Amino acid sequence: MRQTLVAGNWKMNGSREGNRRLLDGIKAGISEGVNAEVVVCPPAIYIPQAARRLNESGIAWGGQDLSQHESGAYTGEISAAMLWDYQCKYVIIGHSERRSLHAETDAQVAEKFIAAQKTGLTPILCIGELLTEREAGETEAVVARQLDAVIDAAGIEAIAGCVIAYEPVWAIGTGKTASPQQAQDVHAFIRQRVAAQNVDVAEKVRILYGGSVKPDNAAELFAKADIDGGLIGGASLDAEGFLAICRAV
Ligand code: 13P
Repeated sequence: MRQTLVAGNWKMNGSREGNRRLLDGIKAGISEGVNAEVVVCPPAIYIPQAARRLNESGIAWGGQDLSQHESGAYTGEISAAMLWDYQCKYVIIGHSERRSLHAETDAQVAEKFIAAQKTGLTPILCIGELLTEREAGETEAVVARQLDAVIDAAGIEAIAGCVIAYEPVWAIGTGKTASPQQAQDVHAFIRQRVAAQNVDVAEKVRILYGGSVKPDNAAELFAKADIDGGLIGGASLDAEGFLAICRAV
């Protein structure tokens, strides 16, 4: 049985004061018990704050991105080792906003994935189609291409040590959630694609859904056979909302 993972991607939101309240609120709620593994991914500058406040809370923390390079002349970038230095367990890789706003390619995403795993971080690999791609019937082709780029570069066994997040781009921040069945169909496709190469890995890998997950739709999504949790954006910025999603497991 795969353990459900609920991950909060804060994106570029937060402040020291606001984070303090948010982290303490989540920590207090989680201490009452939830059935999910929980991780928060604040902006990089606030990772040390999360590390301090979440120490021994049972809640993990992670980065939203990392450089594919180990170190050197890459102004503004953050390496896997730096995230590791602050006890990050996870790092989001290939988020659609990185792909679209920062022109990250499938090949670069694969390099980042490898850099993360080499250091001990667990990648949360984001894949998902644009609205135009879904309307053109290309959803499966797009997620297959994005997934294969990583499998080809890192090997199928590497997938066992990662988390995949299916985030249809048209559902991110739009209030338009994929229906539980639409999400399940793509999750099943992703799992089958992994299974075609290694059945054990396919059974183990956790596949999260992301895109307008809210307290009122989380339970229905998480109830689907191939949905092993969620990658939560907007709703992770409110402790009560995020906790309600964690409890929907
Ligand atoms: P929203 O939950 O705000 O739609 O964002 C989803 C997302 O992009 C998480 O990475």
